[in-house]
Amino acid sequence: MRIKSIKIGDYIAENNVFLAPMAGYTDYSFRNVALKTGYGLSFTELISAKGVYYKNKGTASLVYSKGNEDKTAVQIFGSEPYFMRYAIESEELKDFKIVDINMGCPVPKVYKNGEGSALLKDIKKSAEIVKECAKSDKIITVKIRTGLKKGDDIASEFAKMAEDNGAKLITIHGRTRDAYYSGEPDYKAIEKAKNGVKIPVIANGGIFSKSDADNMTERTGADGVMIARGSMFSPFIACDILGIDPPFTKKEFMINHLLSLIEMLGDRKSAVYFRKFVPYYFKGVDNIKDLKLKLLSSESGEETLRLINENT
Ligand SMILES: Cc1cc2nc3c(=O)[nH]c(=O)nc-3n(C[C@H](O)[C@H](O)[C@H](O)COP(=O)(O)O)c2cc1C
Repeated sequence: MRIKSIKIGDYIAENNVFLAPMAGYTDYSFRNVALKTGYGLSFTELISAKGVYYKNKGTASLVYSKGNEDKTAVQIFGSEPYFMRYAIESEELKDFKIVDINMGCPVPKVYKNGEGSALLKDIKKSAEIVKECAKSDKIITVKIRTGLKKGDDIASEFAKMAEDNGAKLITIHGRTRDAYYSGEPDYKAIEKAKNGVKIPVIANGGIFSKSDADNMTERTGADGVMIARGSMFSPFIACDILGIDPPFTKKEFMINHLLSLIEMLGDRKSAVYFRKFVPYYFKGVDNIKDLKLKLLSSESGEETLRLINENT
């Protein structure tokens, strides 16, 4: 794919390879090390607008970005324009220039509240949300899916709606809600959306290698790509796509990640939290059954660190 900078309102992302929001994975500890591999922009996981309004204690750690604020967009979710705008203008989000609105989360607890992907059923309400959020002095972006169920294609309509109401970029996860995270992305839907708007369109879904990124941009004409699970399966996927040398080894990537986790969560919690990354970091690595078992049962961050140091 052609590497280029992306203009998002008056913000310029250095390149068009973005790190996706992933709840429970892309907190500061992961984003901080991943950003060093070259991504042009990263996103926090989805943060409840109402949670910000009601001073939910969890918000601070979710937006925590020490020194990376200029390369991090905060993603919020909700269904009421008032709460969304309140969150955007809150003290908690004051260090961030870009706020992304989640219109794609498939999880039932979010969907049932009319939030996340449920907004794809209601373009009028979605427009009101984008319009209200765009009245703030933040740069507003939107992340959608191609629809709710197989065969749907609302991407072009929503991209136009987002643009018309003040969004400066749209990311399209080329799958419907019922597909969750599996299946081929709908390249045609992304292409159609791209051709209907002037704002940059970022394509997402199923990009696990440089050739997937090439294929995605070739088939859709999208301005850039967003990588989610591929960032954990292949920690240097951004380097591959950008054509740059990895700044450190995979072992150093994991150690860096873990050290941040230990600092943020403490010894026991960091080990437990790190377990969910093991299937990603070690997928396809041969002869490490024992190591995997030890990492998956480790109760101490220091012990996890030792295991990685001595065995990888
Ligand atoms: C564990 C997990 C958590 C996710 N959390 C979010 C989220 O908070 N906000 C969001 O917009 N998308 C979220 N997503 C969706 C991803 O950003 C992305 O759209 C999706 O995984 C498709 O990309 P991929 O095929 O490269 O993984 C999540 C995906 C996964 C697997």
